[in-house]
Amino acid sequence: MRTLLLLGVTALCLCVFVAADKQADRQADESSPEKDGILQLKKGNFRRALRKHKQLLVHFYAPLSAEGHRITEAFEGAAAELQGSDFKLAVIDVTKEKDLVKELNATGLPSIRLYLSGDKDNPVDCPAPQSSASILTWLGRRAGSAADLIISDLSQLDASEELTVVGFFQELNSEYVGVFYAAAIDLPDVTFVVTQDNEVINKYGTHIRCCTAAQKVYQMDPVTEYTGKTATQILTAPVLNHALLFVNKSSADFKDIYSAFNTAANAFRLKILFVWVNVDEPRNGRIMEYFRVGAFEAPIIRLVNLTDHVTYHLPSDTLDVETIKKFCQSYLEGKAKPKMQSEPIPDGWDTQPVKQLVGMTLEKVVFNPNKTVFVLFYLPYSQESRALFPLWEELAEALKEREDVVVARIDASANDINLSMHGSYPSLCLFPALYAERMVVYPGKRKVKDLIKFLDKEMEKAKKYRVKEDEDRRKYIEAVKAEEAKKANESKDEL
Ligand SMILES: *[C@@H]1O[C@H](CO)[C@@H](O)[C@H](O)[C@H]1NC(C)=O
Ligand SMILES: *[C@@H]1O[C@H](CO)[C@@H](O)[C@H](O)[C@H]1NC(C)=O
Ligand SMILES: *[C@@H]1O[C@H](CO)[C@@H](O)[C@H](O)[C@H]1NC(C)=O
Ligand SMILES: *[C@@H]1O[C@H](CO)[C@@H](O)[C@H](O)[C@H]1NC(C)=O
Ligand SMILES: *[C@@H]1O[C@H](CO)[C@@H](O)[C@H](O)[C@H]1NC(C)=O
Ligand SMILES: *[C@@H]1O[C@H](CO)[C@@H](O)[C@H](O)[C@H]1NC(C)=O
Repeated sequence: MRTLLLLGVTALCLCVFVAADKQADRQADESSPEKDGILQLKKGNFRRALRKHKQLLVHFYAPLSAEGHRITEAFEGAAAELQGSDFKLAVIDVTKEKDLVKELNATGLPSIRLYLSGDKDNPVDCPAPQSSASILTWLGRRAGSAADLIISDLSQLDASEELTVVGFFQELNSEYVGVFYAAAIDLPDVTFVVTQDNEVINKYGTHIRCCTAAQKVYQMDPVTEYTGKTATQILTAPVLNHALLFVNKSSADFKDIYSAFNTAANAFRLKILFVWVNVDEPRNGRIMEYFRVGAFEAPIIRLVNLTDHVTYHLPSDTLDVETIKKFCQSYLEGKAKPKMQSEPIPDGWDTQPVKQLVGMTLEKVVFNPNKTVFVLFYLPYSQESRALFPLWEELAEALKEREDVVVARIDASANDINLSMHGSYPSLCLFPALYAERMVVYPGKRKVKDLIKFLDKEMEKAKKYRVKEDEDRRKYIEAVKAEEAKKANESKDEL
């Protein structure tokens, strides 16, 4: 009987405890309502939440910002995955909770902080996540170690990954591993792996540099100058998208352009490697040749995908931070238009007074020995170029009765111009009717009258030269014929 009573009392007590617990929970629920598994924190409930959750990831949310929305979506996805784990996600509306935000010294960036073990003064900054996966990766890597990144076989790598940074380490306790892993934590959107396979290390001996290069990319200044010394480092860097700024270091606008390039570079670390090339340095001739950039075209920015070697050209006259960032972003999203050897030949390209040339037709048209061709090389986005269109129409109209003259234009930004051009775009160039592939840049006033005077003078000059050319040609053709006849005789004799 007594035992029974005791049991009863215990049972009662249990009931009371359960009820009390439920009530506490309900109170907590009311004061820190959850939405989609995310605590909505305010001044009144922040401390309690901090005590209750040993790992509290807080998003300081600015409702009207684009980044705020993106992070909110990432948070919702991550909250679903983290249900039942030790992590709790929370949000504080910075526009409503000004006092709390000030108390937490969270007025500036970053907007995401991880509070550990109830310590409100020393949160860990979380890099702005691209997706819920970045949040999960960041939390996971923080809790883990470089050992978690080990893969035994490089063929395990997911080939679809845009970028994978591989660390080749003989020993896991080298100081490099620490740097490498710190980079991995800070860059949750990038795949990092570690391999210790001696066979792999021997086979890819040179790639051991890859790990050092990875750290260098990470530690390197956001922008690297291309020089004989840095070339190897740039080419062996694991980042396979390069933005190249070709600029004249002695030019007046160098400082502004470099500064814009540098600022943009910070936003694309480990995604795009930013390199600048001084076009005033004769030793850089080779790299400029490779990218087919002439010194006169500077300042100019090219993006190159080192996987397929496709080059992209920034279509703008202005090189400010916004323009550069937009270009890089559109490239990463696959929206940038590659710079092409040639645009397709437009329908009816030769039916208008001004013929529209492209890379494929340029040389065939301008190096016609029977026609004198006047070409406007233009950049479609340049005001100065477009201002010449009416003049060119006028010129074509004035010359329309002259069968031996062609007036044409070509978009120099969309077509590779394989001519040694001197002078910047827009450029007005005359190709006289000769067998020799000759080009004369028009230096005069931009008036139809002056253009025609120049044309006539050049045509007169070319005519004299052409007489000599025709004579040489006649002799040459005769010589060839004679040689052929001789050969024919010889083969007859042999028979
Ligand atoms: C508040 O943040 C600023 C800038 O991040 C920092 O310099 C300062 O030391 C912080 N103050 C406290 C009390 O944590
Ligand atoms: C670079 O700019 C300086 C100063 O304007 C000029 O003298 C020099 O010729 C330029 N170099 C090239 C390669 O255009
Ligand atoms: C670079 O080229 C590779 C191979 O064609 C392609 O898979 C990748 O998407 C390209 N990268 C960008 C940013 O366009
Ligand atoms: C140029 O004119 C000559 C003689 O009339 C002709 O034989 C030749 O085919 C012409 N060349 C071109 C490219 O039209
Ligand atoms: C450019 O021109 C040179 C000489 O005229 C020629 O050897 C080369 O193949 C041309 N390149 C292209 C891409 O057309
Ligand atoms: C070819 O042979 C014929 C007779 O066999 C001769 O008349 C002619 O001169 C020869 N031509 C040359 C170029 O040797």
